[in-house]
Amino acid sequence: MTDRTKILVTGGTGYIGSHTVVELLEAGYDVVIIDNLSNSNRDVLDGIEKITGRRPEFVEGDCTDLSTLRNLFTNYPGIKGIINFAASKAVGESVEKPLLYYRNNLNTLINLLDLMPEFGVKGIVFSSSCTVYGEPDVNPIDETAPIKPATSPYGNTKQISEEIITDYIASGAPIKSIILRYFNPVGAHPSALIGELPNGVPNNLVPYLTQTAAGLRKELTVFGRDYNTPDGSCIRDFIDVVDLAKAHVVAMRRMLDGQDTDAIEIFNLGTGRGVSVIELIDAFEKATGVKVPHRFGERRAGDIEKIWAVPAKANEVLGWKAEIPIEETMRNAWAWQCHLAEKK
Ligand code: WQD
Repeated sequence: MTDRTKILVTGGTGYIGSHTVVELLEAGYDVVIIDNLSNSNRDVLDGIEKITGRRPEFVEGDCTDLSTLRNLFTNYPGIKGIINFAASKAVGESVEKPLLYYRNNLNTLINLLDLMPEFGVKGIVFSSSCTVYGEPDVNPIDETAPIKPATSPYGNTKQISEEIITDYIASGAPIKSIILRYFNPVGAHPSALIGELPNGVPNNLVPYLTQTAAGLRKELTVFGRDYNTPDGSCIRDFIDVVDLAKAHVVAMRRMLDGQDTDAIEIFNLGTGRGVSVIELIDAFEKATGVKVPHRFGERRAGDIEKIWAVPAKANEVLGWKAEIPIEETMRNAWAWQCHLAEKK
């Protein structure tokens, strides 16, 4: 039996989850994944093993079922920390199917929190999102920026989840939590063995962009060029998924090993740089030498005009900083798209 600290990663075969499992294994943790494979597939485990030389334990299961989770904690004793990625995350779909989002995202979290004291689990890292800030009044934004009314059930589940964690800890629950508010995760592992695997037509910019560059889509539509920004397109804080994954390892170590840290801490995870949609397309073309056929269309309902982070708190308190340049991120995203084409 190893004396490695054991971590449960829910949603661990997903995009950010799988990259985080790689970093946890490489940092010397043991990992148990539970995933219902609703938005990922099992062969991600092969990619993780090829990269790290170690295969995480895997349980196919639904975290909204309390007995499934109780059995997991019973069968895998000694789990000290949880990283909770398991959630539905498509903004548009959440508007069409709000109950699916509230049931899946909130019941998952409530079940995990409920079982933690019973099984001696010390802390939970929660995957939140900058979407809780809505359209900021000023940019860049730090963690004190006001939480705005959610613009989608998906965003609302992130806000409510943060409140559930806060209230549960305030009630005296013997656990700690670190809430990580992601900006826009993009890219893929440099090995090109794991990456983003969107089901169907991608909602997000970068997978749609790389599929267009690969000729799988006719052209990319830039949703709006009349925003109040230098080039008229929206601005985001695109953070490399490997930088993001590393932040989870740092957060877990701080939560489990850190002395006299607060029971609940919140961090913005971004680069601190605002990049527009058009600038991202240019960065991709410059970095890869591959053109992206694109047109300028209407704005997309619900889009925020501009949002990017002040990452100072994560830099100073966590000792973590996003380091991967956007051009390298674009090359990795393209290498992953090419790997997918070879796999077909
Ligand atoms: C980015 C920009 C689009 C596609 C959402 C969620 C967030 C998180 C990440 C889950 C926008 C533009 C996009 C396209 C385009 N989700 N765009 N053409 O909306 O910032 O964030 O995904 O964790 O919580 O809110 O990301 O990649 O969809 O869009 O012009 O084909 O790219 O208008 O300005 P978004 P995105």
